[in-house]
Amino acid sequence: MRKSRIAGMGYYVPENVVTNDDLSKMMDTSDEWIQERTGIKERRWVVPGEDTTSGMGVKAAKMALDRAGMQASDIDFIVFATLSPDYYFPGPGVQVQEALGIDTVGALDVRNQCSGFVYALSVADQFIKTGMYKNILVIGSELHSGGLDKTTRGRGVTVIFGDGAGAAVVTATDEDRGVLSTHLHSEGAHAKELALIGPATRRWVNEIIEENDENDISYFPYMNGSYVFKHAVRRFAEVIQEALVANSCTSEDIDLLVPHQANLRIAQFIQKSMRLREDQVYNNIMKYGNTTAASIPIALCEAVEEGRVKEGDLICLAAFGSGFTWASALIRW
Ligand code: COA
Repeated sequence: MRKSRIAGMGYYVPENVVTNDDLSKMMDTSDEWIQERTGIKERRWVVPGEDTTSGMGVKAAKMALDRAGMQASDIDFIVFATLSPDYYFPGPGVQVQEALGIDTVGALDVRNQCSGFVYALSVADQFIKTGMYKNILVIGSELHSGGLDKTTRGRGVTVIFGDGAGAAVVTATDEDRGVLSTHLHSEGAHAKELALIGPATRRWVNEIIEENDENDISYFPYMNGSYVFKHAVRRFAEVIQEALVANSCTSEDIDLLVPHQANLRIAQFIQKSMRLREDQVYNNIMKYGNTTAASIPIALCEAVEEGRVKEGDLICLAAFGSGFTWASALIRW
């Protein structure tokens, strides 16, 4: 049966490094607090005006195409995952189509936050399995820094998030490898525990301007951190297990787990609860913070570059985030 496999990966992070000490000059926080609770040492933030979510996505996509040995013209569909699009509408998929000069192929935008890349990969996998498309560009990109509350009021959220993009060229194969299965979940009951409420159709800009309330922080991301943490550790473990069971595998069979880089403590908790060795889990949140839809492709790309992913390896991707949504993918590389 026709499968999909990742033929090439790419990533891009802005050059501008923001350390924990840099943050402590903007707000009441410390390197010690951030490292102890999240494992993050630094993140990349775009210098205002110097890049965009779609722009970073295009850079990552070019690297992925290059490594796949393909031209932009080989792509017959685009899937773009982000929670921080350049425009409220249209989504950034069309901007990638334009910037890469690809013919008028379809471009789909995925709105699944931290699970966005795994959802996007799943969409690509289904389109390839049905034979509709052959080469799909899957991108996860985020520009968080422009929309964060950089005062002490926002410290519980702001210190966690970073900017960046990752991309994969997903291609059809008749070989016995590639994406084995994907598993997608959501539970909207928790939507407001990790959300950006306004501006939106339930809270239009006019309303916000009219109220002119200096305490209105609805346009900054809100996160109930400990609540998210508790749900994340449970759902990550569940969805990884689901992927393993679906393919008659056990955690011992995993060569590399690439979890969404939400928080190093979450990844360590999963590693321990699933009895995985340190070398079975890839983390790079220390350098980039949580880049939401971009975190898995950036991490997977770095893991490939470091030789941690070899042909024939069993790779597990797993994510959890706002929605709540959570997802996994098992890949025979
Ligand atoms: N620097 C210093 N102090 C901070 C701070 C910061 N950046 N952020 C919050 N604090 C303070 C709080 O104000 C609170 O102070 P108080 O006790 O005087 O009220 C104290 O630290 C503890 O806050 P709390 O939110 O309970 O901390 P926590 O131990 O839950 O850690 C997170 C906060 C955000 C690191 C943690 O909850 C977490 O990682 N959650 C999951 C987040 C996540 O993964 N999100 C992405 C999902 S995809």
